[in-house]
Amino acid sequence: MSSSNETPISLTRTRTPHPRPADSSLSFGKVFTDHMFVMNYTEEKGWHDPRVVPYAPFSLDPATSVLHYGQAIFDGLKAFRGADGTIRLFRAQRHAERLNKSARALCIPELDVNLVRRSFEAIVAADHEWVPSTPGTALYIRPTIIATDVMLGVHPSHSYTYFVICSPVGAYYKEGVKPVRILASDNHVRAVKGGLGEAKTAANYAASLSGQAEAEKQGYTQVLWLDGVERKWIDEVGTMNIMMKIGDEVITPPLAGTILDGVTRNSILQLLRDWGHKVSERPVSIDEVMAAGRNGTLKEMWGTGTAAVVSPVGELGYKGENIKIGGGQTGELTQKLYDAIVGIQYGRAPDAHGWTTPVKVTVAA
Ligand code: COI
Repeated sequence: MSSSNETPISLTRTRTPHPRPADSSLSFGKVFTDHMFVMNYTEEKGWHDPRVVPYAPFSLDPATSVLHYGQAIFDGLKAFRGADGTIRLFRAQRHAERLNKSARALCIPELDVNLVRRSFEAIVAADHEWVPSTPGTALYIRPTIIATDVMLGVHPSHSYTYFVICSPVGAYYKEGVKPVRILASDNHVRAVKGGLGEAKTAANYAASLSGQAEAEKQGYTQVLWLDGVERKWIDEVGTMNIMMKIGDEVITPPLAGTILDGVTRNSILQLLRDWGHKVSERPVSIDEVMAAGRNGTLKEMWGTGTAAVVSPVGELGYKGENIKIGGGQTGELTQKLYDAIVGIQYGRAPDAHGWTTPVKVTVAA
């Protein structure tokens, strides 16, 4: 493959553009733009034929390996339209690098990170009119890789398809930034050390469904995942990383193999350190958190992720006991972090760490 900065990305425009939904009607991931980015992998050619083409269904043989053994990875990032009209990608480079980290975990051949970044820019440029402009809205970008060998043997595929689709989105939670009730699950496990927990792969999300369904049945919004061995150490919440403020310490579980290296997690830890907070990436047990909830030192708790940015936790349930956090209200630091991240994303606040990249809205055909 030639150098990623030179590899031309071809563009075939749709002849049947769709009407774009009103910003006020947007929810999460239900409508898709007019185009998609596609690139293929074969052992002979490597990754080849990067192209932007009209959005369309794939035709897959029923024996395609991804349908059977889940050799699939994805990532998720957003493009924001600022008040000045500029479209900015948030942390595109880090998302591209994480896609490769997931690829390594699933025996998928790595991609050139620059080409991945250019794929984000190319699809957003082609569909720039789809980037919504109302505050709180964004264009969600979903890069995905699937194994495409037609075979039922259990081994890594020899061929793959990389594609990027985009969806104009409103708030991830219909209720907006509002505290959620979460349930610490001691009978469902999302991931174990040595498994796939730190990869963004379909299997982790499939593994979360039954625990999530049980939490919902009990009136909670999300599951607080505990480690799979001792069922004691806090891992993640729902599909997000988890953070909490106990006394004056902000704590989040370390990247020790079972949790995702969240881009929002990383951004928030950086902001907290910039602001002089005491930040610990350390194991934190459910018992420590429940005790802090009882004695009043658990000040705030929140989830972090690309989709929702920050999701405050107002109540935590564990073994039949429920504790209210911050009186069930969004905490001051939680709100400050949300505002700070969103301010950078929309270009309203200075981007001290160079996290955003403007997208040029012309694509060479
Ligand atoms: C995120 O928080 O960005 C996620 O990973 C959720 C996504 C799978 C919809």
